[in-house]
Amino acid sequence: MAGNSSDVLSPKQPPLPSPLRFSKFFQVIVADNYFTGSKDNLKKWIGHPRFELIRHDVTEPLTIEVDQIYHLACPASPIFYKYNPVKTIKTNVIGTLNMLGLAKRVGARILLTSTSELYGDPLVHPQPESYWGNVNPIGVRSCYDEGKRVAETLMFDYHRQHGIEIRVARIFNTYGPRMNIDDGRVVSNFIAQAIRCPSFLSQSLVCFSGEPLTVQSPGTQTRSFCYVSDLVDGLIRLMEGSDTGPINLGNPGEFTMLELAETVKELINPDVEIKVVENTPDDPRQRKPIITKAMELLGWEPKVKLRDGLPLMEEDFRLRLGFDKKN
Ligand SMILES: NC(=O)c1ccc[n+]([C@@H]2O[C@H](COP(=O)([O-])OP(=O)(O)OC[C@H]3O[C@@H](n4cnc5c(N)ncnc54)[C@H](O)[C@@H]3O)[C@@H](O)[C@H]2O)c1
Repeated sequence: MAGNSSDVLSPKQPPLPSPLRFSKFFQVIVADNYFTGSKDNLKKWIGHPRFELIRHDVTEPLTIEVDQIYHLACPASPIFYKYNPVKTIKTNVIGTLNMLGLAKRVGARILLTSTSELYGDPLVHPQPESYWGNVNPIGVRSCYDEGKRVAETLMFDYHRQHGIEIRVARIFNTYGPRMNIDDGRVVSNFIAQAIRCPSFLSQSLVCFSGEPLTVQSPGTQTRSFCYVSDLVDGLIRLMEGSDTGPINLGNPGEFTMLELAETVKELINPDVEIKVVENTPDDPRQRKPIITKAMELLGWEPKVKLRDGLPLMEEDFRLRLGFDKKN
């Protein structure tokens, strides 16, 4: 059973917390190599006196003064993380080592955004944090799944060996506005496909001329979808709280891919066709978080239901794709 490392005594005292922790004014520094991220998403903050953006790849060391590190850097969509698997595993392993090295040098607290992929194709359902997972170590998804597993190991080893203050979140599928439109994740795929498919006035007509909603076979595989604002709230609570984690952050509502497609069709474009296509290797059959730990330790639970979150994402996608509701 995976334990909560808070129970394990640190052999070393933690490094002195950075004096920045007690500073009255805070500053946000974002480091990104823009592999899947975009400056566009940050344009609201560029030029703000307390905001700084650095083009930086976490596989290289970073020397800055900070008191908290949110370590999110890693492509999260299969299309992108499989594109250069060696780089993905380097980002997870060398990138996490570099961020832990930074945390150690400046006495910062560090939070890792780990993933439900760590549970692989789970043999336990729903998944508690104590479940060790069922992951293929040599498959095409392993660069991400095993990469994150090593990243978690590094976090806990630095905690035990050097006393670093760590926080580990295991995130389940999260969606929301400003996601990469073509990044291949299921919610963004369905929404973009439903918007791009021309809508006919009669609901009885099926959209054969535009893009269908492509559901990977068999369509009965399940996922749980968390809206981005809920997730951010959970991450901040975890960072500010006293528990190391790992803590599941996700929405326990569970949907099959066919149910998700039907919901997108109903809410966004009733004329769109749903088409079942071939699946990719090692696609997990089911995913649903147990969030008792997050509820008890962080006072957190998601508030936004899928049916309320999807239209918020649709609005943003329509704007960026240049399709208003009438098209
Ligand atoms: N969104 C989800 O459903 C989900 C689920 C589980 C875990 N996570 C984790 O949360 C984090 C953020 O996910 P996201 O959905 O926002 O993904 P994303 O791909 O949209 O964002 C990842 C960010 O990391 C940057 N990045 C990638 N490699 C980098 C590198 N080597 N150096 C510096 N920056 C780099 C990208 O440019 C991008 O801005 C990731 O670590 C991901 O594994 C996300």
